[in-house]
Amino acid sequence: MKISSKMKKSLNDQIALEGTASNSYLAMASWCEITGYDGAANYFYAQSDEERTHMLKIIHYLNDVGAASIIPEIKAPSNTFKSLEGILKIALKNEQIVTAAIHKMVEITQKEKDHSTYAFLEWFVNEQVQEETKFETLLQKFELIGRDKLAINEIDKILATQATPTTDSIV
Ligand code: FEO
Repeated sequence: MKISSKMKKSLNDQIALEGTASNSYLAMASWCEITGYDGAANYFYAQSDEERTHMLKIIHYLNDVGAASIIPEIKAPSNTFKSLEGILKIALKNEQIVTAAIHKMVEITQKEKDHSTYAFLEWFVNEQVQEETKFETLLQKFELIGRDKLAINEIDKILATQATPTTDSIV
């Protein structure tokens, strides 16, 4: 199976984007752990693992179609944050960037009639809907519960209930 060089480059760029997301969530998890937000720390450690599985999915796909994947250098993420709400806002923004990149790739597959990559990307399109909804819903909690210490503690507990280890298959 052959994919275009444009598609190959976009998928390789996406590997970097998913790797960057994984690193960024790892930094958030670490900050939450140090700050005492145990629920959020577990949540973001799991989120970091999930992004790594996304990266691996693309690596495997590129290798499977005979377009060797390139393992990228990952830029150091920011390690300091202002608040849990601030972290969730950054996370939502990151996910919106990822969604835009995925949609751009889908457009390329449509233009190039690359049905294999189109089918492969379908999973990512659906995943991004879930990812954005997840962070939007969590941010809504600050409006509903509040921003004082007790409210943030409550939100941290909510995050703890949603910190599930990833079960996504990576192949
Ligand atoms: Fe893999 Fe959350 O984007």
